[in-house]
Amino acid sequence: MENHWLRSVADTGLKVSAVGFGTVKLGRNEQVKYPGSFKIPGDAEALNLLAQARDLGINLLDTAPAYGTSEERLGKLLQGQRDQWIICSKVGEEFENGQSHFNFTPEHVRFSVERSLQRLNTDCVDMVLVHSDGNDVDVIRRYGCLDVLEDLKKEGLIRASGMSTKTVEGGILALEKSDCVMVTWNLNEQGEKAVLDFAHQHNKSILVKKALASGHLCSDGEDPVKASMDFVYSHPGVTSAVLGTINLKHMRQNVEAVKAAF
Ligand SMILES: NC(=O)c1ccc[n+]([C@@H]2O[C@H](COP(=O)([O-])OP(=O)(O)OC[C@H]3O[C@@H](n4cnc5c(N)ncnc54)[C@H](OP(=O)(O)O)[C@@H]3O)[C@@H](O)[C@H]2O)c1
Repeated sequence: MENHWLRSVADTGLKVSAVGFGTVKLGRNEQVKYPGSFKIPGDAEALNLLAQARDLGINLLDTAPAYGTSEERLGKLLQGQRDQWIICSKVGEEFENGQSHFNFTPEHVRFSVERSLQRLNTDCVDMVLVHSDGNDVDVIRRYGCLDVLEDLKKEGLIRASGMSTKTVEGGILALEKSDCVMVTWNLNEQGEKAVLDFAHQHNKSILVKKALASGHLCSDGEDPVKASMDFVYSHPGVTSAVLGTINLKHMRQNVEAVKAAF
């Protein structure tokens, strides 16, 4: 395990912080599974969250076309500070008129990455993950989307490729064909442990999504954030936990808990 704050993403040369800032809540508040409803932060509030994240040492931002206006907002909010961040976006899921739909064809993957470049106002998206609908193996085999991401890497439009998966078979297959997978890993959900084991054994990277079970773990027990982060980092395969918060105090508390966990 890399017992330090900055961690390598496979052999890509990228180094990400052990906590990433998940930005769903900067762009979307419909059809989400959080315990309570919330208002999307305005620009000043979002800039404060980004500034505090940087001050805390966070350099990884996780976004996606499916996160409503998240990519577009980041493109504007990060003007003048783009080089301070490693941005991870996705391809395959679209969220329009309150509904998700999926497209994993090679044409769409390329179109989506080019659109992310425009929305994020950048010439390279550091990391791009296939945003799976759950049929991980079928998506990889039928559409060859990880091969397209490999091509985009060679063209210099992205630096690292991967997939946000929901199955053990899919997670391992994705790791065989890319640098990184994003998996659910928390005190309540550990079904994908074999994917973390595989990543650890093969020098691949794991980004954790829903480390706090989308907030549902935050009211359990005496110190649920500490218990959650101790658990997440008990596995040596974990590269970074992408935590979603629009609360400055929670962000600080989460970073402190992660720093104490390794
Ligand atoms: N690829 C995928 O398919 C996928 C799916 C889900 C998520 N993700 C990524 O992973 C990120 C995180 O996932 P997530 O947002 O679903 O789950 P999460 O990080 O487990 O939980 C976020 C929720 O927990 C609350 N929270 C955070 N820290 C807290 C604290 N210290 N005390 C109390 N409450 C706290 C947040 O509310 P406050 O805002 O009030 O702090 C928010 O509602 C997302 O933003 C996204 O980038 C990816």
